[in-house]
Amino acid sequence: MTPIGIFDSGYGGLTILERIREQLPEYDYLYLGDNARSPYGTRSFEVVYGFTRQAVQWLFRQGCQLVILACNTASAKALRTIQQKDLPVIDPQRRVLGIIRPTVENIDKITGTFHIGILGTPGTIISRSYPLEIEKLFPEMIVESEACPIWVPLVENNEHDKPGADYFVKQHIENILQKDALIDTLILACTHYPLLEKKIREHLPGGIRLVSQGKLVAESLKDYLCRHPEIESQCSKNATCRFYTTESEEKFSSMASQFLKGKIGAERVYALSDL
Ligand code: DGL
Repeated sequence: MTPIGIFDSGYGGLTILERIREQLPEYDYLYLGDNARSPYGTRSFEVVYGFTRQAVQWLFRQGCQLVILACNTASAKALRTIQQKDLPVIDPQRRVLGIIRPTVENIDKITGTFHIGILGTPGTIISRSYPLEIEKLFPEMIVESEACPIWVPLVENNEHDKPGADYFVKQHIENILQKDALIDTLILACTHYPLLEKKIREHLPGGIRLVSQGKLVAESLKDYLCRHPEIESQCSKNATCRFYTTESEEKFSSMASQFLKGKIGAERVYALSDL
């Protein structure tokens, strides 16, 4: 079995996995959430890189040939170093992909004003990965960013659809739109934020588009597998999905049901930090 590995710091990557499985149901998937060490969004570059590298190593040991970092913070802080420094040493035949480029590569088809707003964790925003990626593809675009440090804890504590969440959602939406009144497209650059989407829309002025990345990442992966038959042919296809967590199985299963419909059984991984 050579499943496609899907990694996130915690639960958020489940929002990406769900869309990927809709587009590509035939493949086997192995999801790893580093719940015991999340959130990553407020951690330093070195720490996020170290944790992500361990997760990738573990997924490789489970037989994954292809790993998706379904976490913006890990994609922002660890992807490039893993691709350039680690993969040539560990195994040049294996692949690790992130979710930042897939999110922005077709953004020119969504925006009319070419003024974009990025909403993400402090780690993703400080890394400037989104503005840099957009600048490479569309140098004429104007990009503003806003870190929303409370949004992940709101989701993790099941407060995202409660009245208390309105204050923090409204605050960050107002902040980013004040930075640039011409913004017509806001990117939800964190895998937890789709759970806040309903509330975000309630506080969004008319005419502003909200981009949720799951569908974009899924379409991009589909395209990648078509363009890379040497990788695609190595991915097994029994339509299975297994879940692993570094926290307790019970905690993962109960929280995961917020992100994915239906009951999810998970297994615990103990030895990630030894890798
Ligand atoms: N999954 C992370 C992301 O997409 C958010 C959660 C965290 O901070 O660990 O940025």
